[in-house]
Amino acid sequence: MESQGISTFVRSNPKSDKFKVKRFHHIEFWCGDATNTSLRFSWGLGMPVVAKSDLSTGNHVHASYVLRSGDIDFLFTAPYSGATTTTTTTAAIPTFDHEAYASFMSSHGLGVRTVAIEVDDAEAAYATSMAAGARSSSPPVLLEDGHTLLAEIELFGDVVLRYISHAPCATLAQGHDFLPKFSPMHIFDHSIVSTGEFGLKGLDHVGGALPELASVIEYVMNITGFHKFEKFEPDDLVAGLTESKFESMFLANNTESIIFNFSEPAYGTATKSPIETYLERNKGPGVQHLALITDDIFKTIREMKKRPLFEYMPSPGEDYYQHLKTSVGDVLTNEEIQECEVLGLKVDRDDEGVIIQTFTTPVGDRQTVFIEIIQRIGCMLKGENGEVYQKGGCGGFGKGNISRLFKSMEDYDKTLDTPSTLVPCLNAN
Ligand SMILES: [Fe+2]
Repeated sequence: MESQGISTFVRSNPKSDKFKVKRFHHIEFWCGDATNTSLRFSWGLGMPVVAKSDLSTGNHVHASYVLRSGDIDFLFTAPYSGATTTTTTTAAIPTFDHEAYASFMSSHGLGVRTVAIEVDDAEAAYATSMAAGARSSSPPVLLEDGHTLLAEIELFGDVVLRYISHAPCATLAQGHDFLPKFSPMHIFDHSIVSTGEFGLKGLDHVGGALPELASVIEYVMNITGFHKFEKFEPDDLVAGLTESKFESMFLANNTESIIFNFSEPAYGTATKSPIETYLERNKGPGVQHLALITDDIFKTIREMKKRPLFEYMPSPGEDYYQHLKTSVGDVLTNEEIQECEVLGLKVDRDDEGVIIQTFTTPVGDRQTVFIEIIQRIGCMLKGENGEVYQKGGCGGFGKGNISRLFKSMEDYDKTLDTPSTLVPCLNAN
């Protein structure tokens, strides 16, 4: 029977993946200008630019720059002129398509085009997904190094799920530790950035906004085998605090290292759900947020705020932090709770661990995708080879904070709808 809501949803892991999935490999943004956009994110998030594929490397199709921190790469891509002088593509991303790009940018503006995951065998993963009803975006392509495979299927809306695999025992050529045809680069080799002192270590989860949840959940579960991991229901919101509602389902792979968080709005409420306003501004479904995980959120946010390239959702009130002493005083010291208040961080816990999180406001012109920064405390496990790792989703996803976050998103959306004040012309002459 289908689980309903927090009170009855019981986490279980059936380990139902249909092919072996390793990790998030990268997130690709399509943007109007890759140079400028990548540098803003690089400085704002403390993610150095580590590789490029552009005119200087012989790519006449698109400019792409790779940002890295810990285990996650962000790829920023924008096209050159559609005209080509040769029939042989020089694109580093062989699936790049000018028409798809033009359509994507017209509808969505800056946004996430691709969620790339590393799998054991991209060809087999693609075949398995297709047999299960996946919609193809690109059949497997063997990249020029001869041992890296790339295949793509549609995920939802205009977002693509990219499978990447390397042949067993393959050693990537020097400088090609992202993908072939990318050259290493080190710009802004500032000590803070180059030593990764912002502390972002990976991608925790990807949030998607959808007009309708059930069909996408069924589709993704079918084509990947991922299992239901967590659920938010409209009744999980504190009654009376928010003016609108939404529903979320989380899906995860066997190791729970890859987590998708899909949300749909409740329609017909007096105030539109921020999920619904996202869908309007994005002209359809898309990646709504990217949650980046850190081992030290105090250091990460302090560093991010030194370079105010992003803004943040408002801080909870003073009463919130008074309450924290009771709710998480056994895990966080008074000094840490005080620093949460100074930095505007939210804290929550589940039966396994504690999370500290904060959210930027949307990062682009169209007010769609935003960034979440999260630290998870607890749930340390030992792997087969004795390696210590943290259980995915430890501490939950902020269900206790969700009403305040949703309320702040509603309030933020209202600031965007404020009509401009027109100054009348008083010159009678
Ligand atoms: Fe999130």
